[in-house]
Amino acid sequence: MTRADLLIRDATVHDGSGAPGRVLDVAVTGDRIVAIGPRLDIAVAEVIDAAGLVLAPGFIDVHTHDDIAVLTRAGSTPKVSQGVTTVVTGNCGISAAPSPLLRRDVPVPPLDLLGDAATFAYPRFADYLAAVSAAGPAVNVVPLVGHTALRARAMDSLDRPATDEEIAAMRRDLVDALEAGAIGLSTGLAYPPAKATATAELIALVGDVAAAGALWTTHMRDERSGVVSAVAETIDIARRTGSRTLISHHKCCGEAAFGLSQTTLSMIAEARAELTLDLDVYPYTASSTVLIETFARDSRQVTVTWSDPHPEMNGRDLGDVSAEWGLSQTETIERLKPGGAIYHQMDDGDLDRILAFPPSLVGSDGLPRDRRPHPRLWGTFPRVLGHFSRDRGLIPLETAIAKMTGQTARVLGLTDRGLVQEGYYADLVLFDPGTVIDTASYDDPTARATGIHTVWVNGKPSWSDGAPADAGIGKLLTR
Ligand code: ZN
Ligand code: CU
Repeated sequence: MTRADLLIRDATVHDGSGAPGRVLDVAVTGDRIVAIGPRLDIAVAEVIDAAGLVLAPGFIDVHTHDDIAVLTRAGSTPKVSQGVTTVVTGNCGISAAPSPLLRRDVPVPPLDLLGDAATFAYPRFADYLAAVSAAGPAVNVVPLVGHTALRARAMDSLDRPATDEEIAAMRRDLVDALEAGAIGLSTGLAYPPAKATATAELIALVGDVAAAGALWTTHMRDERSGVVSAVAETIDIARRTGSRTLISHHKCCGEAAFGLSQTTLSMIAEARAELTLDLDVYPYTASSTVLIETFARDSRQVTVTWSDPHPEMNGRDLGDVSAEWGLSQTETIERLKPGGAIYHQMDDGDLDRILAFPPSLVGSDGLPRDRRPHPRLWGTFPRVLGHFSRDRGLIPLETAIAKMTGQTARVLGLTDRGLVQEGYYADLVLFDPGTVIDTASYDDPTARATGIHTVWVNGKPSWSDGAPADAGIGKLLTR
């Protein structure tokens, strides 16, 4: 090696494997990492002095609702500004395609997290993938297909188990999406349109996922006081189908559920001895989704994030809105719908325990459509690095980085990303370990993180000098 395009000098390289950082030079040519070593002697076009900074693999946001956000470059700024270079779309049963509007004029909640009816313009999964490629995303995109979208296509009423014919229709759509390149299927069993899903329906669909060697991600049936039985159901389906399985945004909501992560994590640890079972988590004690009365009931406090009929209530406390309108909480929610909310409903002890659990991955679950989004959209990754690792010492820096890079790539089956290693794609983030921190808060939810210097996607800068690049440098990463 005598020539390269870019040399990043004297960075403390955290390679994403969980190994401690080492001061090294890293050379990039085209879209690949071509050399790593102490004091590389290479002729280069550009040198970056990275002394005192950490160089890590670009972060992989394993849990997003960025299906539509990736179609515009500005839509990915919340992620790029945090050092994210790859996003997994289509989570929680919610995907932009295939269109869930076969039998309806409007998307049933929570599909409307992604947008209104006009959003669902892709009849088949392949049509959506073509749109992503044509748009030239700012980040790499790893797409899942959502079970609730399939259910909405196959069924007239969603509050019951599917019939054999409906299951067969969903399986045709699922196989079509997997063949087009979806990396797997997501389910959102806690939400009304999927809550009545019978185990047989899940076994059939997840069985197809397993047969394709794909991944099943699941927002489980219950994340409240029934979370233990929801984990048991997940493990049972994983065992019966043999599918690789990822539990989404693991959490224990509502006081009656506080502390249950002790039980769920030991169940997961035990199941991992025989199954490929993983989990992700976001670093906050408030959740966020569409407005649902039962979610509000278990919460200390609820903030409205969007409301189509009452946009003037975006950012307002739900209790205050109720008082102002002289309505009960249920009536207030009915009047605000369709809409979304932030629900303060978790305990710090569970969050710490889940985040520190070695297999857990970091995913934002950010909601880019929300007018007053949960701060996880803009803050997740720097918050884990700055707040949980550096300031609180919950996990070492190399562990925090592995949970957003190498470990994640392994779960997703990405074989040439997620590590700083020769031959791997040059998805990289350079940040200041002393200052990196989230600044987005519940009051100021779109504030940009601090301490992220430069981000590269496929060898090209995607974030530098506090601004995103205006170039579609991300790739669609299909199966
Ligand atoms: Zn979810
Ligand atoms: Cu989600």
